[in-house]
Order: sequence, then C-alpha cells, then structure tokens
Amino acid sequence: MVIIRAANTTQEREACFQIRHEVFVVEQKVPVDLERDEHDSGALHFVALADGQSVGTARVVLRDNGASAKIGRVAVRRSNRGFGIGKMLIAAIEETPDLKHVRNFLLDAQAHALQFYADLGYEAYGEEFIDAGIPHRHMTKRNRKVR
Ligand SMILES: CC(C)(COP(=O)(O)OP(=O)(O)OC[C@H]1O[C@@H](n2cnc3c(N)ncnc32)[C@H](O)[C@@H]1OP(=O)(O)O)[C@@H](O)C(=O)NCCC(=O)NCCS
Repeated sequence: MVIIRAANTTQEREACFQIRHEVFVVEQKVPVDLERDEHDSGALHFVALADGQSVGTARVVLRDNGASAKIGRVAVRRSNRGFGIGKMLIAAIEETPDLKHVRNFLLDAQAHALQFYADLGYEAYGEEFIDAGIPHRHMTKRNRKVR
C-alpha cells in the first residue's frame, strides 16, 4: 500500500533528503551543493511510503503569499518507478489541505519528464534551459479553483 503524507518529523525529512541524494546526486550527477538549497528549510516536504518504506519525495515552496506554489525535487527510488507513485505524489500535493489556497502550481521539469507532467495537466512555457547540467522547461497549472 502506498501512502503520501507531509514529512513532518526530522526523521521523515531526512528520509526525503536521502532519496533526493540517491536520485539526483548519485544517479543524475547533480552537484551536492546545488541539490540541497536555501529553500529546503521553509519548504513543505512530502514523502511516499510503500509498505512503510520511504520510496519517493517532493517539496513545495510557497510564493506570492501562498497564491502560487513551486513543486520541486520530485523523485522516486529507481526500483519503485513505473507504479504510479510519482503521479500520486503530485496529486497528493495538489489536494493537501495546507495548499488549498494555491491557484497556480509551477515547476521546472527535466526535459525527459515533460510528458509525465503534461499527463497531469501541466503546460510547458518558455524556452528550454539548462539547470545543474540538465535541460529543463518551465511548466504550470494555472487558475485552479480554490476551495
Ligand atoms: C519522474 C519520476 C518522478 C516519475 O515517477 P514514477 O513513479 O516512475 O511515475 P509514475 O509511475 O507515476 O508514472 C505516471 C505516468 O508517467 C509516465 N512516466 C513516468 N516517468 C516518465 C518519464 N520520465 N517520461 C515520460 N513519462 C513518464 C509513466 O509511464 C506513467 O504513464 P501511465 O500513467 O500512462 O502509465 C521518476 O521517474 C523519477 O524519480 N525520475 C528521476 C528523477 C526525476 O527526473 N525527477 C523529475 C525532475 S523534474
């Protein structure tokens, strides 16, 4: 069974950082000093648990007094990919009560993941750009009805 929840304890946040390290630093060769950044301390971190094991993560940084939110550091452990966990992470973020006032979700998608986000309703805009050596596009889901 997969559960997505806010990572509210130090231990859960450390599990998120460990997954990010495995996926971005080890697998994708992102420099370690870029992977962890100044937004981590104020971000909301989410963890995906499969049968109690942490297997995925994402973070959300609020902007514009909470009207917008940037989703980032979306990562699922390699052996757990392709089972819908990435999709569940994004859906859980969009539905989380703490983010109910967010009208616009933003993210910077790695080029290989554009279709993953497009299938979840995100639209790409602007030119491709390079971040940490990886091609990206900006994407957004705008003007969501707030509850
Ligand atoms: C991108 C990532 C988070 C997706 O997680 P996942 O759990 O494997 O994704 P899901 O199983 O929920 O996939 C949902 C759908 O997207 C598709 N998909 C998943 N990854 C994809 C990719 N990289 N490119 C295109 N489509 C992809 C799946 O085929 C699936 O399609 P379906 O619903 O028609 O079967 C995962 O591949 C990952 O951690 N990659 C390395 C880190 C990374 O690149 N993060 C994104 C940074 S922007």
